[in-house]
Amino acid sequence: MPNAITIIRRDHRAVESFYDRYVASQLVERKEEFCQAICEALTRHAEMEENIFYPAVQKEGGDELRRQTEEFYTAHQEMKTYIEDLEGLDDEVGKMDRQVRLLMSAVERHVEEEENYLLPKVERALGELRLEELGTEMAVFAETRALRQK
Ligand SMILES: [Fe+2]
Repeated sequence: MPNAITIIRRDHRAVESFYDRYVASQLVERKEEFCQAICEALTRHAEMEENIFYPAVQKEGGDELRRQTEEFYTAHQEMKTYIEDLEGLDDEVGKMDRQVRLLMSAVERHVEEEENYLLPKVERALGELRLEELGTEMAVFAETRALRQK
């Protein structure tokens, strides 16, 4: 079972690869598919972080990490707004391109801050065993959520 940090990094890579494929697509239908894949993967990722990972870090990581994690909830809020805007969009490709770019620049900032700044500190504060437990909880959470949506 992958630990919490591995799961988070893997989610980030998946979103980036959907975006690469979005950019490489010529057909509107393909672009729409990848746009939807980006939004779904991000929503799932944010829910998993907000329900399992961030609360654990805030509870167990000490004062500094508790404050810093607060900012990540705010960044998620920004991404959610962009995702909602995308869902309300009509078929105009130019608009979708601009909107997806906006979303992805927020994602880039999130990924950079989380991977370079938050995760290394969490790794030190929580330790390998706890991160493995959290990884299992996160995997179960994602699985249950996927089943609910079927
Ligand atoms: Fe993340």
